[in-house]
Amino acid sequence: MELTKQEQAMLNGAEGYAVRKSMEILVALGEIFGAKNLIDVGSVQVAGVSYHNLGDAGLDFLDSLAKDGRVKVLTTLNPAGMDMENWQQLGISPEFAEKQKLVIDAFTRMGILISCTCTPYLIGNLPLYGEHIAWSESSAVTFANSVLGARTNREGGPSALAAAFVGKTPCYGLHLNENRIPDIHIQVNTELSKLSDWGALGYAIGKKAENKIPYITGIKKADLDALKSLSASLVTYGAKPLFYMKGITPGAETQTQPKETVTIEASDIQNAYDNINDQGNEIDFVCVGCPHCSIKEIQEIADLIKDKKIADTTELWVATSRTAKQLADKRGYTAIIEAAGGKFACDTCMAVAPLKGRFKALATTSAKGCFYSRQNLMKTKMGSMKECIQAAVTGKWNN
Ligand code: F3S
Repeated sequence: MELTKQEQAMLNGAEGYAVRKSMEILVALGEIFGAKNLIDVGSVQVAGVSYHNLGDAGLDFLDSLAKDGRVKVLTTLNPAGMDMENWQQLGISPEFAEKQKLVIDAFTRMGILISCTCTPYLIGNLPLYGEHIAWSESSAVTFANSVLGARTNREGGPSALAAAFVGKTPCYGLHLNENRIPDIHIQVNTELSKLSDWGALGYAIGKKAENKIPYITGIKKADLDALKSLSASLVTYGAKPLFYMKGITPGAETQTQPKETVTIEASDIQNAYDNINDQGNEIDFVCVGCPHCSIKEIQEIADLIKDKKIADTTELWVATSRTAKQLADKRGYTAIIEAAGGKFACDTCMAVAPLKGRFKALATTSAKGCFYSRQNLMKTKMGSMKECIQAAVTGKWNN
């Protein structure tokens, strides 16, 4: 890979330990993937924030970088393993909290915005069309590539952090026009009526378009929450972190519809639900906000739960960014949700919090949330916001 004089100097240690280490990571990646050079990035999203996933080895690594590493571009953080303010109420142990705070302290010293959300585009990290970025968090990467038209590979935590310290990333993969060409046409022949249908659609497309870039037709209307849900499930269940949707996402009109076509019928959506939904009706955990809830979703939850009470056997988490929660506080939604017994889980989510063995059965609106909760040994049910709130109130699914 060709380096400029300044990049070579960084690699030689002219800007200290963290930048040297970062250059080593970026150059190694670039050489593996055949990049010719590094390119400037407009922003970075760093995943790998939960102590649950990092452990002590990860914490030591971050601490070593934080000694002299300072980010050069706007850098935001993915969810951590707990709500940084309200962790006790969510049942997090003091031992875990202490370690998680050390992780956040390291990121703070690096100059990273402690946003702790997987929807950075909702809180001010909003890349422009065509802008090169280095994001790690599959749903956000897919949203940025597809809905915003920005350009990013699906970075790992260390490579994203390296890009933040250097302000650059190797130019390969989805940074290049030739790798952004759709290679499968997905004709959707069914209506999508609720939020979870978009997760089901992502499941169905992911399975049919494994490791391909879908060009989706047949959808007339989609809002932000729908596209955020689709972005999360599509990549979780197998497709590349980029899709085009004719008439809806930018760039779709400039791409040629691929010849290879598969259709998505009502039966494919039903099949997704059948595969995601486990047997049994008891629900002890309802978590909505995967990806993190928008203010519109929080409003919907407040409307649905007003004057109701969560069942004694069930816990309801509303996972969102602290920024969205602050808006919810001002609008009165927080008071309504908490009066019903619901809890806000800011800064965190069901996949990265230490939940293994704590709950038996989850209800959620999210196909991605179901995927990760199964790894946390929960049975899963996916449905509309209304069905999820109903489950929180009754402790049962569809009752
Ligand atoms: Fe976000 Fe966690 Fe879902 S990171 S996309 S809420 S699994």
